[in-house]
Amino acid sequence: MNMMKNPRNDFLIVALDFDNIQKVNELIDLIPEVNFYKVGMELFYSTGPEIIKIIKNQGKKIFLDLKINDIPKTIEKTVRKLASYDVDYLTIFCNQEGIIAAREGAGASNTKILNVTVLTSQEASSSDVIVRAKMSFSAGADGIICSGRETKEIRKEIQNNEFIIVNPGIRLISGNDDQIRTVTPAEAKQYGATNIVVGRPITQSIEPKMAVLNILKSCGLE
Ligand code: C5P
Repeated sequence: MNMMKNPRNDFLIVALDFDNIQKVNELIDLIPEVNFYKVGMELFYSTGPEIIKIIKNQGKKIFLDLKINDIPKTIEKTVRKLASYDVDYLTIFCNQEGIIAAREGAGASNTKILNVTVLTSQEASSSDVIVRAKMSFSAGADGIICSGRETKEIRKEIQNNEFIIVNPGIRLISGNDDQIRTVTPAEAKQYGATNIVVGRPITQSIEPKMAVLNILKSCGLE
């Protein structure tokens, strides 16, 4: 094995759904293959912005998942502040005017603005999700968060390879539970997701490294 090689598997984003820095560091140390981490509300509100610096200092990318929504001016100023922490992805949960305000706040920074279509835990028709995806694209969002079940259709409707599609709600074993809007990592990749977000299947695993390697292997990303 070439020890100099640093496989940067940006496809897999691991959700750090913890409430303290020690657990974050323990997990990051176990899975050096992972290059991209999601910081959600629980962790960000527990640790404050310091967590961003700690993870970035290890050369990792950050997806800050705060699902921001407010009046446009507040969105703009909040996003400007968060973009100054050099986060790679930032989620908002907005309609057109909020998306425009968020893009304004992100300015020329490296922060990509991703709009949540519909929470994957909620009931929604595919057409609702596709309408929200198209609205997000035309309002200027850099990408969206949606279930893997809709990715293929959205890629057909939005012909722009730069448009980022992130899929949470990933399960590792293929099943026939059509009511639950989940897909496997390999399915998400095949349907055209830019990234997948995986939390508990890795963080609650007795062998997180094995879980990561299995996911990467199943996607041909070893
Ligand atoms: O379910 P899992 O632990 O893999 O979830 C990882 C992340 O994906 C969570 O932090 C949550 O924000 C998001 N998620 C979601 N919709 C779901 C399940 C999880 O957006 N149905």
